[in-house]
Amino acid sequence: MSRQDITPLFTGVKKHAEQNPIQFHIPGHKKGTGMDPEFRYFIGENALSIDLINIAPLDDLHHPHGIIKEAQELAAEAFGADYTFFSVQGTSGAIMTMIMSVCGPGDKIIVPRNVHKSIMSAIIFSGATPIFIHPEIDPDLGISHGITLDSVERALESHPDAKGLLVINPTYFGISANLEAIVEVAHSYCIPVLVDEAHGVHIHFHDKLPLSAMQAGADMAATSVHKLGGSMTQSSVLNVKEGLVSPKRVQSIISMLTTTSTSYLLLSSLDVARKRLATDGEALIDHTIKLAQQTRAHLNEIPGIRCVGSEILGTKATYDMDPTKLIISIKELSMNGYEVENWLREHYKIEVELSDLYNILCIVSLGDTEEKMEILVQALSELAKAHQRSESLEPKAVYVPNIPTLALSPRDAFYAETEVIRFDESAGRIIAEFIMVYPPGIPILIPGEIISQENLAYIKENLQAGLPVQGPEDATFNTLRVIKEHQAIK
Ligand SMILES: Cc1ncc(COP(=O)(O)O)c(C=O)c1O
Repeated sequence: MSRQDITPLFTGVKKHAEQNPIQFHIPGHKKGTGMDPEFRYFIGENALSIDLINIAPLDDLHHPHGIIKEAQELAAEAFGADYTFFSVQGTSGAIMTMIMSVCGPGDKIIVPRNVHKSIMSAIIFSGATPIFIHPEIDPDLGISHGITLDSVERALESHPDAKGLLVINPTYFGISANLEAIVEVAHSYCIPVLVDEAHGVHIHFHDKLPLSAMQAGADMAATSVHKLGGSMTQSSVLNVKEGLVSPKRVQSIISMLTTTSTSYLLLSSLDVARKRLATDGEALIDHTIKLAQQTRAHLNEIPGIRCVGSEILGTKATYDMDPTKLIISIKELSMNGYEVENWLREHYKIEVELSDLYNILCIVSLGDTEEKMEILVQALSELAKAHQRSESLEPKAVYVPNIPTLALSPRDAFYAETEVIRFDESAGRIIAEFIMVYPPGIPILIPGEIISQENLAYIKENLQAGLPVQGPEDATFNTLRVIKEHQAIK
């Protein structure tokens, strides 16, 4: 038995529950007896018996010194970090911690523009100034990749005083940049590299996958164990390498941003997921990669369907890829991605990870089987047969809007005096709210940016296609909140 086989946190919590203590503490449902019976029966007594809080025998995520400390140390060892912090507030919480650990008001942080909304939230909370790097756009697929080494070098030359560089690695679609080279150049300026590794918990555990943040020498990585590593939804880790960042500061900030009522179900699930990844991860991921590659090959035999593979590698932004992500381009069919998503739901009870105008994304994970993959192939063959484009039509041209100009810092815009105006009359004004398609939650507009006709057309196109455009106070999109303009008094 190796050190990684033990689960101090889960075992400790389970033992505590098995002793059947008489609880005069919260949660008041007291092992489920004080809650709605239908829900109790559905969830099960075991789960409710470990729905506990930080009483003395169970340690405290805010000041770990017992079973949580031990579990975090084992996780650090497994992820190749100096320190691992458990997050019960998803990778969003871990990302906010990373940014607020290195940036204060007015500090610069270099970030790609296609970032998740948690990064923009942290920039607003911290008062940092974002220096945006344009991500590489794939004009064929209509998706954003990561940032290139060249663009990072240019950003660092112009802003050597930045307090951090944030990289998304891998992207939602599983594409990664040359992170090791990016880290090397950032470190030559003594600038810490923070990695949004929401979609890459598994990559650390298999050498056929892109390098993980810790393997590439990054300083911090916010990693969604819950997305692809087998823990429960909302549980993530923040991995830290000491040197350019202070683990003590990270502990203080994560504590400031975290609930005091930390869920032991989530924490325990992190402990067991770490054990499984560290001990059986390689074999399990090997099987997952094979399943995904087989499926990719079968999908590519279907006329009108393209499942992206290693042929997209070799550009500056597509250094490596995670083959367990199936990016399925449907732009040669007569449906858009959202219609394909709905068709799969209606006809085959299949739920995809996301759809956009031109693609659907299916993730293959440790939880998949050959039978399930065959159903996906069968469903898409049937769909493609019934929805071929007519020969005379050109395939849809892929369109991604230009990145808007930032006129005000996101924080200044967020707290500025604002007014509500009609959506159709908003071009040229500075927006005071976020607009994004969720998933993946990447902003089309962020507070402080100048709205263009092109943005408005893109938002309308996504809304008309039925895609989940979110953000503004007015969910109907008849109006938008913009920065108030002060006219001279006549
Ligand atoms: C790129 C990226 N970063 C961060 C997050 C936030 O992760 P979480 O949902 O665990 O808070 C997501 C979630 O979808 C994401 O796609």
